[in-house]
Amino acid sequence: MGKQRKKPEAPLLKVLAGQKQTRPPVWLMRQAGRYLPEYRKLREQKAGFLPLVEDSKAAAEATLQPIHRFGFDAAILFSDILVIPYALGQDLAFVKGEGPKLTPTLVDHNLRLLEKTPNRLNPVYETVRKVAATLSPKTTFLGFSGSPWTVATYMVAGEGSRDQAVTRAMAYRDPQAFSEIIDAIIDQTLDYLSGQIEAGVDAVQLFDSWAGTLSPQQFERWVIDPTARLVSKLREKHPDIPIIGFPKGAASRIKAYIADTKVTAIGLDETIDPYWADQYLPAGFPVQGNLDPLVLLSGGDALDQSITTILDAFSERPHIFNLGHGILPQTPLTHVSQLLEKIRG
Ligand code: CP3
Repeated sequence: MGKQRKKPEAPLLKVLAGQKQTRPPVWLMRQAGRYLPEYRKLREQKAGFLPLVEDSKAAAEATLQPIHRFGFDAAILFSDILVIPYALGQDLAFVKGEGPKLTPTLVDHNLRLLEKTPNRLNPVYETVRKVAATLSPKTTFLGFSGSPWTVATYMVAGEGSRDQAVTRAMAYRDPQAFSEIIDAIIDQTLDYLSGQIEAGVDAVQLFDSWAGTLSPQQFERWVIDPTARLVSKLREKHPDIPIIGFPKGAASRIKAYIADTKVTAIGLDETIDPYWADQYLPAGFPVQGNLDPLVLLSGGDALDQSITTILDAFSERPHIFNLGHGILPQTPLTHVSQLLEKIRG
């Protein structure tokens, strides 16, 4: 494919190409999920989350549900960042009330003993083809993966944690073994994102949900460097693919992250002052964010005021409106409507 954008009418792709829009395009992280009654209904019909991801017809439906209800400017593929460990041979279970569990944990089990099973990703590519075939040319289709560091924290500890202590300790204690894990994730993620792009996504987002707990040198080594390698390898195969980086919790380090990873746009979490971001990030560089998911949950005047602040701060820059992190399952649907009315006028 040449330089010509596939969907010249899609506002979100225009923003990613550096063109500011009068009204920013909007989507919400985790928009395909449990705050939607139609999602809960679809989910109930399945034995678990993975069977839903692996049923490409149902996963395509879950991807499209928020588009049909709210007309967001982007559809995000219904899958999960943890399908990469699954494809690398770990077992994956979503335990009710406890979150995801991966076994065996790589803190005490050698990566080389896992048997790779990349075919586990095939249903996801089929989901992409199904969604791409029905989406309007105005709606951007986003693929995604986790960033190597965040995926590694789950592979090493076997579960999520507040401070990623198990993984941060391993990265200091045995950087050699940890590098091998990071490299394996990069290779598998490269195939996964390429597969999504070849099946029809228009842009991709890298979720680095746990980027915020690393010390400065470790941030360079395990967030910036692996992300830069992944971005560069992906661009060798797909030179025109826009890439949104979302290093949650990276604070002022987003400047180095942007400069060194060469992502196309940056996702900002809700702790970042949008006026600071607008002043200190490179002129014209596209940003995405950064409404607090808790103010969307709460609604009222606080919601309106927070939206106004973000719109004002980014009024002179290419901006995609989004949350600073995923929408919370208890969020009232009326608050999402309020948000869209306020942004779209
Ligand atoms: O954004 C979207 O709507 C697309 C789909 C999507 C899911 N997970 C579906 C999902 C995306 C982009 C993700 C990303 C993801 N998954 C991240 C990065 C973003 C973030 O929130 O930090 C992370 C860390 C995960 C790992 C993960 N998956 C956890 C911690 C959980 C369990 C916690 C929970 O919410 O139950 C999941 C499961 C999951 N992934 C659900 C959904 C809709 C809920 C599972 C269910 O319906 O039972």
